[in-house]
Amino acid sequence: MRRKIVAGNWKMNNTLEEGIELAGQINDLVENTEINDVDVVIGTPFIHLTEVNKVVGEKIGVAAQNCADEKSGAYTGEISASMIKSTGSKYVILGHSERRTYYGETNEILVKKVNLTLENGLAPIFCIGEVLEERQAEKHFEVVKSQIAEGLFHLSAEEFGKVVLAYEPVWAIGTGVTASSDQAQEMHAFIRKTLVEQYGEEVANNTSILYGGSCKPSNAKELFENADVDGGLIGGASLKAEDFMGIITAF
Ligand code: PGA
Repeated sequence: MRRKIVAGNWKMNNTLEEGIELAGQINDLVENTEINDVDVVIGTPFIHLTEVNKVVGEKIGVAAQNCADEKSGAYTGEISASMIKSTGSKYVILGHSERRTYYGETNEILVKKVNLTLENGLAPIFCIGEVLEERQAEKHFEVVKSQIAEGLFHLSAEEFGKVVLAYEPVWAIGTGVTASSDQAQEMHAFIRKTLVEQYGEEVANNTSILYGGSCKPSNAKELFENADVDGGLIGGASLKAEDFMGIITAF
């Protein structure tokens, strides 16, 4: 059966020292709180990966927020999937809307990143989601389906089984506006149906689909109660240990 996952995305926040401190606080809370069978993930900037992996115990997995679309070589400033793997990290967040929007990340580029992530034994947390204009034009299902199909449907069922999906309506990211519980469930059910058509019931039922976009302790419970919402990808509220913990314990 699919896993429940709460993953933090620190984005471009925290110096190394601050990140080590925050990871330590989260780890202490996770170690000392009864958690309802939830996988906890922290997505940090690259420079934190090694140290944060040393700070956290077995109950927390560490994620990078991106990786290079090439294996190795003359790509100044890039960080490869194998380098991420060597830090002890387990996940890579891919296709976040901020990367699609500000850094021109296309589905074509994402295919290469997904492949390299999987080849290196890392699990992609693959982000999808529509912008406000697309929702207003009632194109949100179509947009999300094409992001999934173009970025992931080249994978075999076995490979796809390692992927975590994160539905993040772009209009809800960092805006304080959350998708309603019904809007989240409606889209998550649509995504699972799309997976059934491509890979069958078993793979679809085993895929964790996270919700992201202004998720906080006050609304996490209502979102997570939905049958097809398997957790959250948390930006702002993952920068404070207590808030992040409030979301983890919302299950
Ligand atoms: P937010 O970000 O929780 O700050 O809205 C979510 C995300 O971008 O993953």
